[in-house]
Amino acid sequence: MKVIIDTDPGLDDAVAILFALGAPGFDVQAITSVAGNIGITRTTDNALRLLAVCGANVPVVRGAEGPLAGEGLSEEAIHGADGLGGVALPAPLAKAVPDAVSFMVAHLMNEPSGSVTILALAPLTNLALLARDHPAAFARLGGIIAMGGTVHEPGNAGPYAEFNLAADALAADIVLGAGVPLTLIPLDVTRQFRATPAHLADLRAAGTPAATTAAALIEAYFTGSTRESRPLHDPCVMLLALAPQIFGTDPMRLRVDTGDHPGRLVPDNARPAINVAMRIDAEAARETLWAGLCRPVSR
Ligand code: BDR
Ligand code: CA
Repeated sequence: MKVIIDTDPGLDDAVAILFALGAPGFDVQAITSVAGNIGITRTTDNALRLLAVCGANVPVVRGAEGPLAGEGLSEEAIHGADGLGGVALPAPLAKAVPDAVSFMVAHLMNEPSGSVTILALAPLTNLALLARDHPAAFARLGGIIAMGGTVHEPGNAGPYAEFNLAADALAADIVLGAGVPLTLIPLDVTRQFRATPAHLADLRAAGTPAATTAAALIEAYFTGSTRESRPLHDPCVMLLALAPQIFGTDPMRLRVDTGDHPGRLVPDNARPAINVAMRIDAEAARETLWAGLCRPVSR
């Protein structure tokens, strides 16, 4: 599967990226960065450093530095000032290039229509700009799988909203209404997929760069938290792309509130149906993620 990873690394983004780089089922054609958990310079640099962990040669393309509307949000309290919880990664092997939307347009016009899937781990700013300003290129997407939103769970960016949708609610609303095949993975599912400190022993024992780094990143996710387990939000996107049988999805018609509760999902029958993941076999998901992180990478 040809994929572009749109991301704001971010601890859980980082684990997802390390998994994707080693997954034989993915042809990672680019990583596009976006501001989210932290600012754009950091998210872009973190993407480059994650590639260096695996010695992977994938273009990193710098994207939007803020939301389409509003101030944006930051998750520095969870991911740390560097976005990676202070986990030291190797220096980048290459430089990032500008800019994500232009890159996506050129890339999508060059690839067979329907052949490229976006794995979206962050606020949807880059994708909304693509949909709004370049609809012909956007329509050539095979689909989008995005981590974001909440249906029944309390939010993590206010009582009703999840961070990725709340950080750029207008962008999220544009993408949910754009009519490209979209699967949304909300907190209802990602909060069921959790790692405990005990789970990290297997990763450390494997000794591959991806597994060792993922263990350090997940451990950093526990810093400052009294919880016994932490949710692995963004890796769910990679897992749903490669192993959809692990998830259960329901069709829903939704818009995103851009008013009083930015990022809140609201039923709207005028909208195109999207798939929303509502169930996960968490044990199968962890086994698949761990096996991928522990696999030696040859790229
Ligand atoms: C999402 O917000 C970010 O903090 C995580 O990286 C994830 O993409 C979870 O709400
Ligand atoms: Ca993210």
